[in-house]
Amino acid sequence: MSHIPPPGAHDPASADVPDLRYELDAALAQCPVLHDSGAYTLLGHAEVVQAATDPETYSSAVSRHRAIPNSLDGHEHAAYREIVERYLTRAEVEAQEAQCRAHAEALVAGLERGSMVKTLTHFAIPYAVRTQLEWLGWPAELEEELVAWMDRNRAASRAGDYRQTAAVAAEFDAMIERVLEAGDGTGADPTSRLSRETVHGRPLTRAEVVSILRNWTAGDLGSLASSLGVLVHYLAAHPHVQDTVRSAVAEGDSERVEEAILEILRIDDPFVANRRVTTREVEVAGVKIPEGAPVVLNWTAANRDPQVVGDPDAYCPGENREHNLVFGIGPHVCPGLALSLMELREGLAALLRGTTWVHEFEHERAVRLEAPGSGWARVPVVLE
Ligand code: HEM
Repeated sequence: MSHIPPPGAHDPASADVPDLRYELDAALAQCPVLHDSGAYTLLGHAEVVQAATDPETYSSAVSRHRAIPNSLDGHEHAAYREIVERYLTRAEVEAQEAQCRAHAEALVAGLERGSMVKTLTHFAIPYAVRTQLEWLGWPAELEEELVAWMDRNRAASRAGDYRQTAAVAAEFDAMIERVLEAGDGTGADPTSRLSRETVHGRPLTRAEVVSILRNWTAGDLGSLASSLGVLVHYLAAHPHVQDTVRSAVAEGDSERVEEAILEILRIDDPFVANRRVTTREVEVAGVKIPEGAPVVLNWTAANRDPQVVGDPDAYCPGENREHNLVFGIGPHVCPGLALSLMELREGLAALLRGTTWVHEFEHERAVRLEAPGSGWARVPVVLE
């Protein structure tokens, strides 16, 4: 087991934005359940797994808005989940590999050598947006609009302003509606196929199609881009891990590359949390949670629980694989896992193949995202 100090953890230059991971570690050391402002946040690995795998006690119907399949429970959830999974099978994912590689290689070829590159702006965000647009069969011209939307969405969730968030969500729905209007619904792309699906023996409604597409894009573009930011930062800050991942890429060992990706994201999980609501009173780690209480499953904290992983910052890809909660667990476990891993692997592999080294930029520190986000807002690097 190798111990690697957390990047920037004790570095005054990056101390202006606190690192949520270390705040969560400190809270978890006090108690695996945090009761704050009426909500119960589960931080411990065992507590998060218990809640995520008991949907009868922890319902996903957390708001008035119906998000498909995220906010559904039981049979209703299973019916829509089956539809979603059809688009994310191994075969569907493999069919996207070549386009992901091509987009990654084109972006890497255009990145400057020897001067500062902004990982998120110049690489991770355009890569996530371009590959997603192509997968869904949406026009490439939407890239700029989507990137600007992602910025507004992030600002709205940081502000925690419900009205602003709702307005930004409505803008996104309008964009999806435009895409659906422009197509004739007969194509083989996922968007057209989805609009021809049926559930409970009737066609999906337009609102259902929009909701499914919203979950594939609105949330996941951001997750993919921030994950890539975390990965590039980690490799730049941990030369011996960069070395081993470079070797795995050179040997074409996709499994080892994916194990490394999962372990780096376990150490620094930018997909922080999901919500539930209790359907009955329940006691967790000695804390009584009443019926109808909002509960937060904090994946970032649970992934670093020392009871399960020992030193949370130790890089141990093989040993920690089975405890990894980056993509969740239980009936709502991420159906986009295979797609995401492939996209991250292709993005990272293209960057490593196209360079001889990725360095941290010595004149400007990386900056953490502000809570409730985690991961990095800025990852300046220099490519060799
Ligand atoms: C690095 C990228 C990603 C991460 C870290 C991630 C993580 C997660 C997690 C932790 C959950 C569990 C939510 C819960 O239990 O409430 C989830 C659910 C989900 N994810 Fe992902 N995800 C990623 C990318 C994607 C992509 C690319 C797609 C689809 C294209 C996707 C589609 C979904 C959907 C539809 C759900 C809800 C599943 C359900 O409720 O049954 N995700 N994701």
